[in-house]
Amino acid sequence: MEKFEAAAWMRPTQQDRIPAADLQTDRAHPARVYDYMLGGKTNFAADRAAGDKIVEEWPGSRASACAARAVMQRMTRRLAEVHGIRQFLDVGTGIPTAPNLHEVAQGIDPASRVVYVDNDPIVLAHARALLTSTPEGRTAYIDCDLRDPEKLLADPALRGTLDLGRPLALTLINIVHFLSDETVHPLVARLLDALPAGSFLALTAGTADSAPEQAEVASRRYREAGIENHLRTRAGVERFFTGLELDEPGVVLINRWHPDLDDGPRLADHEVMAYAGLARKP
Ligand SMILES: C[S@@+](CC[C@H](N)C(=O)[O-])C[C@H]1O[C@@H](n2cnc3c(N)ncnc32)[C@H](O)[C@@H]1O
Repeated sequence: MEKFEAAAWMRPTQQDRIPAADLQTDRAHPARVYDYMLGGKTNFAADRAAGDKIVEEWPGSRASACAARAVMQRMTRRLAEVHGIRQFLDVGTGIPTAPNLHEVAQGIDPASRVVYVDNDPIVLAHARALLTSTPEGRTAYIDCDLRDPEKLLADPALRGTLDLGRPLALTLINIVHFLSDETVHPLVARLLDALPAGSFLALTAGTADSAPEQAEVASRRYREAGIENHLRTRAGVERFFTGLELDEPGVVLINRWHPDLDDGPRLADHEVMAYAGLARKP
């Protein structure tokens, strides 16, 4: 009997395969609280109440969250405009908050391709907003944990969207503070190992160097919610780039990483709580 293969238009799209999840809107969720702090729309009363409590304790928290998000957009700009990168693997994507990484990259070249990865079912439930690619480009969402790089690298959506034979950018923005050094370094090394020379690592990581008191507030909030978190010194963040060629200006506080690439507010060192670095695999 002849093998039947469904025509492309008959196959379910990735959007159709995203399951409906229990959004648990009656309780605050870290990703939605972060969305609220960023001024996003994907949040509910419980998230807003939790966010307001953080702002009460630390009035600069909203500006700090916006700065943490804005550096992702500047890194994407520099990767696309200066380094010619057109493929992105973004692990720890978070809830969609415009502009998302693909909107920045495709604003520079509509043919850019982006694979988003997160392990949170709430992010998965909102992932449709990440699948709004230009017709020339492509985006995909993979529900996967950074701690399982083999599963991620073997995922058909990754292989079908990105060409691992050509340089791409691995972006780890605001995620490594959820993992200890012992856990995260081998994972980053494994992912970089799978990428060709000329690929980039873009990373931001939480620190207590610039604002120790605020960092303690944020750290305590995570601990109270049962979420582990690890703040790093500058040397601790530089370790992620061992063996790579660091782009200018090296590992610096996020407010100092190419601030000229956007017209957002200029924050002082004590108003941010993360380092940023971008480096090329030789
Ligand atoms: C603070 S948000 C950052 C979102 C986005 N990258 C940004 O900078 O706006 C961190 C995200 O990392 C995700 N995450 C944390 N640990 C993870 C893991 N082990 N694997 C995959 N995603 C993870 C969380 O679910 C969350 O959505």
